[in-house]
Amino acid sequence: MSEIVSIPVHARPRDTLGRPLHDLRISVMDRCNFRCPYCMPKEQFHEHYKFLKPSERLSFEEILRLTQLFVEQGVKKVRLTGGEPLLRPNLSELIGELTALDGVEDVALTTNGILLAKHAAELKASGLNRVTVSLDTLDPDVFARMSGGFRGVEQVLEGIEAAQSAGLAPIKINCVVQRGVNEHTVLDLVERFRGTGVIVRFIEYMDVGNRNHWSRDRVVTSKELLTMISARWPARAVGQNYHGEVAERYVFDDGQGEIGFISSVSEPFCGSCTRARLSSEGVLYTCLFATEGTDLRAPMRAGKSDEELREIVRKVWTARGDRYSELRAGLKLKEMPLKKIEMYYIGG
Ligand SMILES: C[S@@+](CC[C@H](N)C(=O)[O-])C[C@H]1O[C@@H](n2cnc3c(N)ncnc32)[C@H](O)[C@@H]1O
Ligand code: SF4
Repeated sequence: MSEIVSIPVHARPRDTLGRPLHDLRISVMDRCNFRCPYCMPKEQFHEHYKFLKPSERLSFEEILRLTQLFVEQGVKKVRLTGGEPLLRPNLSELIGELTALDGVEDVALTTNGILLAKHAAELKASGLNRVTVSLDTLDPDVFARMSGGFRGVEQVLEGIEAAQSAGLAPIKINCVVQRGVNEHTVLDLVERFRGTGVIVRFIEYMDVGNRNHWSRDRVVTSKELLTMISARWPARAVGQNYHGEVAERYVFDDGQGEIGFISSVSEPFCGSCTRARLSSEGVLYTCLFATEGTDLRAPMRAGKSDEELREIVRKVWTARGDRYSELRAGLKLKEMPLKKIEMYYIGG
């Protein structure tokens, strides 16, 4: 690994809206062992779908090299995602090397949890700080519907327990709520994790990608959910843990823990978005709803220097003006971008 270049804070890039570069989400694997209809519907991601070849994905060495260039420009937090990141062989090795990078303060992982029980201890030993597990419901039939036909609630719960025993804390659960699909199981999910230290966070169903047949009617807003949950267990809002935190936090009045709401549709938070996203094949995106990205793999494999790559990143970030979620509310259906990047490809 080359020398770390120290770019003074005042010289680090800011985008056209003054937002610094602070977080990097890396999709380490485009494949997934689920076919959640809101993310990778199985009609499109069928058995003949052409996923990337291993040689097309960034190697660990390439991921580390790029991460270092991002860290020099302000990134402090790295999240590994996918597809399903635990399908990437030897992921713990990458985590070990990422956590050892100077300037990286936090490495986290988002997983569907199916393989978590097997890997939790080794992930912790490699230096992983935190894990977020996606779990939309505890009802096995609803689970099967939301995972594209797969069973596995018990496996995911075992994964969460293994992560707790390994000391991967705090564990957060991501729950996407879709009207008519799982909103009737929300209270059970909250009840299961109250008092355990695990934080359930509800994510509004988003129009990422083009393949999930998104419609506004399917979005259950955070407000609705909060009304439903606090009618049963009164809760009050508490402040952010840090500037730019995407979830609005609530704690239960009876002291049984915390829940969160990520209201990307009803209350967009583009103004504080400091996230860059790197796809498994090394394309840099500056928004979850991007239609275009910048390939970093080709120049890297063509032998460009760190300095040249750093300059590409800097240019992309300083030109960034994305605020799609804020604009969405004013868009008519036919004005919405047609060619958005799919969530499985750049990760959540
Ligand atoms: C794309 S997944 C990748 C990591 C891993 N496979 C998992 O499911 O946790 C990351 C997160 O994005 C969320 N997600 C996917 N599609 C979504 C959508 N259309 N709206 C809201 N969240 C979505 C998932 O529920 C998951 O929590
Ligand atoms: S949300 Fe995660 S588990 Fe579901 S299909 Fe997308 S990548 Fe796979």
